[in-house]
Amino acid sequence: MGENTIIRFEHVTKQYDDDSPVLQDVSFEIEKGKFYTLLGPSGCGKTTVLKLIAGFIEPTKGNIYFNGKVINNLPANKRQVNTVFQDYALFPHLNVFENIAFGLRIKKIKNDEITRKVKEALKFVNLEGYENREIKEMSGGQRQRVAIARAIVNEPEVILLDEPLSALDLKLRTEMQYELRELQRNLGITFIFVTHDQEEALAMSDEIFVLNGGKIEQSGTPTDIYDEPINRFVADFIGESNIVSGTMLEDYVVKFTGKTFDCVDAGFNKSEDVEVVIRPEDLEITLPEKGKLQVKVDSQLFRGVHYEISCYDSEGNEWLVHSTKKAIVGEEIGLFFEPEAIHVMRHGETEEEFDKRLEAYEEVNG
Ligand SMILES: Nc1ncnc2c1ncn2[C@@H]1O[C@H](COP(=O)(O)OP(=O)(O)OP(=O)(O)O)[C@@H](O)[C@H]1O
Ligand SMILES: [Mg+2]
Repeated sequence: MGENTIIRFEHVTKQYDDDSPVLQDVSFEIEKGKFYTLLGPSGCGKTTVLKLIAGFIEPTKGNIYFNGKVINNLPANKRQVNTVFQDYALFPHLNVFENIAFGLRIKKIKNDEITRKVKEALKFVNLEGYENREIKEMSGGQRQRVAIARAIVNEPEVILLDEPLSALDLKLRTEMQYELRELQRNLGITFIFVTHDQEEALAMSDEIFVLNGGKIEQSGTPTDIYDEPINRFVADFIGESNIVSGTMLEDYVVKFTGKTFDCVDAGFNKSEDVEVVIRPEDLEITLPEKGKLQVKVDSQLFRGVHYEISCYDSEGNEWLVHSTKKAIVGEEIGLFFEPEAIHVMRHGETEEEFDKRLEAYEEVNG
């Protein structure tokens, strides 16, 4: 365990009643002062992970460590953790000041100390002067900030945020993403943020854990996960992808759609069946004879910053292209891409096996 590790899950399983476990043998480490995101579809176990960290539930198997000590059964109020809930869970009958002061009053802190701390927290979330407002007089974004102020005023080591932005409209949501990220940097506290929105996860995180069915599929920086998805689920969940079946002929040579391409992947068995991912933004539209693939344009949509163009090759595979240039529906075009744009994925490879293969490749290639 690294010296910066603040939280560690060691083979944690959580099972309610006699049902199948909702978390299965989950292990990960959280370092101090970083912004983490748990990303995954509804029901995959994101909130369950937060509840285990907060101490609202206990693991069925495995251990949870906080600063090197097992905390499996430590009560929630004894943990250096505060949670910002999805619905903020503010007290409607208390004003902004008293909402934020609540935890401090329970701890029997002196009045003038409370006033100082609440003012400081309000300043951090850009709500100076709002002390006496009623909660019902605050907008969605402002309530969100009150909830965050209520968490940071206790000076926890870790703040857990369960989909705190999902109730906001797109514009406010984007603003709050910047604010939260700034706030985390300024405070230097560890944030563990939950979302099912992949763009939000990519924009905000130092590190992302992609969860699916109670397991971590992949963890890494946003670029790691975006550029080197380990399997079809991750590739599909993190941004739109073109995924086709292929065969790894030898190191750095892959065959798909009946053609052979140079790529940058290695370490597969000879003629191993694989899945091939190419991101829509890595495909460039060219004249048919200049393309590596020849396709027919089926439809296109303008997405504000780019056109999303759907094409089909002669084998019936769909290819999505993101392009700033318009295409003509029905036209035959070529698609060009660099060898680096091809991501080859092994069927059923675990994250550990994947990391080993990537390391071996990097050793050989610097
Ligand atoms: N108290 C409980 N008793 C039984 N099953 C539960 C309980 N709480 C959660 N579950 C189940 O555990 C699974 C994971 O739930 P969890 O709330 O962690 O998902 P989530 O990833 O946060 O989903 P969402 O994005 O919808 O909030 C779900 O199948 C859920 O039905
Ligand atoms: Mg949830």
